[in-house]
Amino acid sequence: MQHNQFPNNFIWGAATAAYQIEGAANEDGRKDSIWDYYSRTPGNIKNNATGDIAADHYHRLDTDIALMKELGLKAYRFSISWPRVLPDGYGTVNQKGLDFYKRLVDKLCDNNIEPFITLYHWDLPMALQNAGGWLNRRIADWFTEYAQVMYKALGDRITYWCTHNEPNVSSFLGYKVGKHAPGVKDDATFAQVVHHILLSHGDAVAAGRALLPKARFGIAPAISQNYPATEADARIEKMMWDFGPGQILEPVFFGRYPDIHSPAKPIILDGDMQRISQKIDFVGINHYFSMWFKIDKNGYPELVTKDLPVTDRDWIVYPQGMIDMLQHVKKQIGNIPIYITENGASYPDVLTPDGCVHDSERTAYYKGYIKAAADAINQGIDLRGYFAWSLIDNFEWEMGYDSRFGIVHVDFETQKRTIKDSGKFFASVIRNNGIV
Ligand code: FCB
Repeated sequence: MQHNQFPNNFIWGAATAAYQIEGAANEDGRKDSIWDYYSRTPGNIKNNATGDIAADHYHRLDTDIALMKELGLKAYRFSISWPRVLPDGYGTVNQKGLDFYKRLVDKLCDNNIEPFITLYHWDLPMALQNAGGWLNRRIADWFTEYAQVMYKALGDRITYWCTHNEPNVSSFLGYKVGKHAPGVKDDATFAQVVHHILLSHGDAVAAGRALLPKARFGIAPAISQNYPATEADARIEKMMWDFGPGQILEPVFFGRYPDIHSPAKPIILDGDMQRISQKIDFVGINHYFSMWFKIDKNGYPELVTKDLPVTDRDWIVYPQGMIDMLQHVKKQIGNIPIYITENGASYPDVLTPDGCVHDSERTAYYKGYIKAAADAINQGIDLRGYFAWSLIDNFEWEMGYDSRFGIVHVDFETQKRTIKDSGKFFASVIRNNGIV
């Protein structure tokens, strides 16, 4: 296969997440999520930014769908805001919230853009957090109830359902290092939260199979590529896998945790691992960078610097890492269907007087990683699709609006959208089904 020739049915898309783009935080019956609460707490987010307005996508559906059309997207990956649909987490459904997603899906289908749904992209209803959140075992039931509401509302038109976005990251940053909502730093909580997220995943997949026999279900961990700095550090790959994506994918695929997945052990009840290891149809992988580590004198991984290009987040740009990562995933869990559900880069963009954003570094990033995707397919990886992160600039978690990942620029004063050069490049890739 040439770089300019991806398989015919290859899915090209762009991704977003509800809290990062929607805004309309208090409108039409939506209640707070843990991210509303966390970002409104001074000191947590750069410049004390919040997602109250974000990219105002809730009011700009038509504009944003027109952009997708202009880019030629074949698919759009977005997440549902749980507190918009079930403001108290469970119980009463907020019809206006549900209607928003029905409208979105209708318009996507009208425009031949395949919707890829993520049920949970980190915005847990605050009402559930007040009842213990992911630490309360009952959350598996709450999540399944929410999933069923969505299956019933949209299931006739949706094939691809992703339960969780980056559960390894939301649990680690939210419950171990305390840098994301809800800002907890506790090893035992972290381990238990991971376990409950996995239970909720398994139960939601089982409920989905019962309601939607033709749908495809998956989960989307973040998987970076981790290299040992020297031969003496060869154990790094396994350490980072066990502690990161392995902690999600091994329970899901094999019904067991990796050897060392956490400093604390979760409470696991009889039958839990069977519930977690429901058969799934695909794995979504969010891949951004590679890292090199040595093992320090206490046996912990220590990041080493490399003379390679980095983004403005200091993330190392190394497309070969995506191929090596995909080969590693294949070795660990087999040759399952994979979608790159997120890949992209943050750079300080400038809107120039010609009305353009000449983001040559981001364009080069995409060129490199899309070539790597083609090479991976040539090497036998069952890669079925690729989603750029992100469709539009947005609220980038703890960075607020200071980190831009869009292939479309957003002026957050006026909400004006401008397709960046990288967006034009991505559109040409879609048109040609590869790089020309
Ligand atoms: C991923 C998240 C996504 C976005 C990108 C840059 O970890 O899934 O929401 O923030 O990073």
